[in-house]
Amino acid sequence: MKQLLFGVFENAQSNDSGTATWRHPDNERIHFDSLEYWVNIAKICETGGIDWLFLADAWGWSEIDDVRPAICDVEALDLPRLDPSIVIAALLQSTKRLGLVITGSTLVEAPYSFVRRMATLDHLSKGRIGWNIVTTGTADTAADAFGQARVEHDERYKMAEDFIELSYKLFEGAWQPDAVERDRLGRYSDPEKVHRVFHEGPFFKCDGYGNSHYSPQGTPVLFQAGSSPRGLQFAGKHGECIFVSGDDTSIVAEQTRKIRAEAVLNGRDPYKDIKVICAFSCVVGDTKHQAYEKHQEILKHQNLDVAAASYAMFTGLDLSKYEPETKIKDLKTELSKTQILRFGDASVGEVLGNWHANGVRPEPFIGTPEQISDAMSYMAKAADLDGFMFTPMSQPSSTIDFVSKVLPIMRGNQVNTPNSKIQLLRQKLMGSLLPYLAESHPGASYRHLKSKNLK
Ligand SMILES: Cc1cc2nc3c(=O)[nH]c(=O)nc-3n(C[C@H](O)[C@H](O)[C@H](O)COP(=O)(O)O)c2cc1C
Repeated sequence: MKQLLFGVFENAQSNDSGTATWRHPDNERIHFDSLEYWVNIAKICETGGIDWLFLADAWGWSEIDDVRPAICDVEALDLPRLDPSIVIAALLQSTKRLGLVITGSTLVEAPYSFVRRMATLDHLSKGRIGWNIVTTGTADTAADAFGQARVEHDERYKMAEDFIELSYKLFEGAWQPDAVERDRLGRYSDPEKVHRVFHEGPFFKCDGYGNSHYSPQGTPVLFQAGSSPRGLQFAGKHGECIFVSGDDTSIVAEQTRKIRAEAVLNGRDPYKDIKVICAFSCVVGDTKHQAYEKHQEILKHQNLDVAAASYAMFTGLDLSKYEPETKIKDLKTELSKTQILRFGDASVGEVLGNWHANGVRPEPFIGTPEQISDAMSYMAKAADLDGFMFTPMSQPSSTIDFVSKVLPIMRGNQVNTPNSKIQLLRQKLMGSLLPYLAESHPGASYRHLKSKNLK
């Protein structure tokens, strides 16, 4: 059996994933604005043998007909939040091996400054950084906040293509990997290996030198999570670790199959170059019944009115306006199409019920550590997965339960796996010899270009 990869999903805000369980007395996430909270989480992950800590992000908020419902503030549904890249920077010193993955929006970031921020983190962490490329879940309100025009779903992916091409030029092409010599008796860097970048794309332009030199991984490990048809195409071309999600193993298996097929169409190896990671959640108990009660206890702390505002945050759709029998697949959105597609034939009433319990998370596995690990092992095999990303319901208790009770079983009771000794993230996750993008990856071609070609 292949060695599975494991990440932990986090968010620098009191709630995430479309639920609002901050009132639960065990939920320390309420203190997301304290460094102590983050150092504690990072240490639990690192000592527990987790491969990476993931920080999600959003720039927008929930709105229904251009009005932000008051419940958003009452329940801290969407705001306030902190900047994930600064939270990650604050964790560099208290971690040594843990991968640190940051969400970066291709809708509102400026590629030139974003690339410098990522390269800085990759240098300071000695190559432990990943970038979760998002076209942005809350795209409309985010665009409003930045004073930009709103951009439709598929157009956002064109924007992401342009953003990432410029990023490759800056990450890979601006400074050759061996440009910096730092030789006190000779020169600091070789001018032949420092290149001017020209980019005239439909959305982004650049004419200048890269602000930061080549970092330990060059380009951070690329994570991606769009499961709409356009999102899957983007993932198969650019993603290295790609998230899938779903309540049903067959739905997840189908996403995995499509991603690997898309990778092949792009001349990439569907296994060596692509790691498919499934989002999952679990509630652990000594018995199934106890785990079930624990789950109900967490949900009891959530206000029932959260669900409609929260669904609107991801889709802009107010489900409370529709008859409960309406089929969700008959509704349309220019925000996250995934949040319609994933519910198949379900009615609006069923979606609201599911959303109240889970938000964007899949149904949790509920049971004893053995039952959960059996279910995960089955899913990994049946859906052809390379790993899982755990999305906790209450922090840090959920992560402690997972790393201390379930993960040891999944890893054959070995916390110190061969992976945990490798420090550079790409080598750890992709099993590659070198820490750079694989030669088959579209970004790698920019590594070898001279300045006149960096167009
Ligand atoms: C595990 C996981 C994590 C995600 N994290 C984020 C995030 O931090 N920010 C965000 O805007 N979208 C996030 N998404 C959503 C997707 O990246 C994507 O932007 C969204 O689904 C809209 O694109 P689509 O319609 O192609 O799916 C996440 C999805 C999954 C499955």
